[in-house]
Amino acid sequence: MNIAIPKETLEGEKRVAQTAETVKKLIDSGFQVFMEKGAGLASAIRDEDYKQAGAGIEDHVAPLYQKADVILKVQAPTPQEFNSLKEKTILIAFLYPLARLDLVEQLARKKITSFSMDMIPRIARAQKLDALSSQSNLTGYKAVLLAANATGKLMPMLMTAAGTIQPARVLVIGAGVAGLQAIATAKRLGARVEAFDTRPIVKEQVESLGGIFVSLPVKEETEDQAGYAKELSSESHKRELALIAEHARNSDIVITTALIPGNPAPKLIVEETVRQMKVGSVIVDLAAEFGGNTTLTEPGKEVEKHGVKIIGYTNLPSLMAEEASRLYARNVMNLIFEIWKEGSSEIDFENEVVRESLITHQGEIVHSRVQELVGARKDSSWKS
Ligand code: NAI
Repeated sequence: MNIAIPKETLEGEKRVAQTAETVKKLIDSGFQVFMEKGAGLASAIRDEDYKQAGAGIEDHVAPLYQKADVILKVQAPTPQEFNSLKEKTILIAFLYPLARLDLVEQLARKKITSFSMDMIPRIARAQKLDALSSQSNLTGYKAVLLAANATGKLMPMLMTAAGTIQPARVLVIGAGVAGLQAIATAKRLGARVEAFDTRPIVKEQVESLGGIFVSLPVKEETEDQAGYAKELSSESHKRELALIAEHARNSDIVITTALIPGNPAPKLIVEETVRQMKVGSVIVDLAAEFGGNTTLTEPGKEVEKHGVKIIGYTNLPSLMAEEASRLYARNVMNLIFEIWKEGSSEIDFENEVVRESLITHQGEIVHSRVQELVGARKDSSWKS
């Protein structure tokens, strides 16, 4: 089977879907691997490294797509990349199918067999394939460094002859994978860290990292069966906004990471809260790509509102492309070894990890949640 890895073309994307390390392992297990020339350069991997690992290097992208049975990417295909895909190719990438139903329908129409790296189930057995976690971890770390750079405050407490400098006060909203890494990183730098999440279960994890857990007692269930947050009732949401405003006012840095899968990011910091925050404070909004946790976030940009810097960069892992690619490449390689068990050329549909990440196959949308969303959309357009 021919596996091909093109250079990412989305603006600002520096990651690559395979590294020389993982290419070698794929070749050792019987795959043939072809790289587009220069695909790994922005992740500090030279064509020479891939060649040494046994990959073929293609100077041009069109023949690469032509010879590919499987295309590995980081980002979902751009329209131009989509046109290059030949029918029945197998595609593995971050597709975010729950939010991109048009793309899913196009993939089905072109009979692409697509697997989405963001749909890998969060079960213990699949941790080594869990690309959302591997990238979120880096994102949480980088968010703190960006904030530390943008603030005029110091992160640690410092005793100097000219007086004592108080540690920066950091508030992390959402203590999932990115949030927990942000807490750990800010603590390592010496900041005083508070964290808030609607799932009370994370209190212990926050405290084990040295953070102070801010809790919002609510009567309703805040977590679904898969362990993800559920949307709050409007009354609890109002109380949540007030609680966040109270803590944000006293913070120098706020890092927001709150997401509910398949939904737009919840708005947790409204303009009035920003107005009440200290001049010079910084918000890093890691939910920017999904609409942002503040009402003032501009995705992809850094803006200043009421004296507060709001950083809404949407692709932080790409700012650490070398490490991000290393982790992502292993996640993808491990998925490949689940899809095609021990050299088999047949997809292993019995495997839960394979089934849950498979979105389209043989011209059909096969993932049940995506099917439901597409169906609901058709129903509502029929009614209107
Ligand atoms: P996520 O990216 O979906 O959300 C980030 C955080 O935002 C979550 O902690 C969520 O509770 C929180 N959040 C959502 N709405 C909020 C609101 N209105 N206010 C405050 N916080 C809010 O989460 P992530 O990082 O993907 O993790 C989701 C779950 O998956 C967690 O339970 C995590 O422990 C679990 N997980 C399990 C793994 C496994 O292999 N067993 C691997 C990775 C994560």
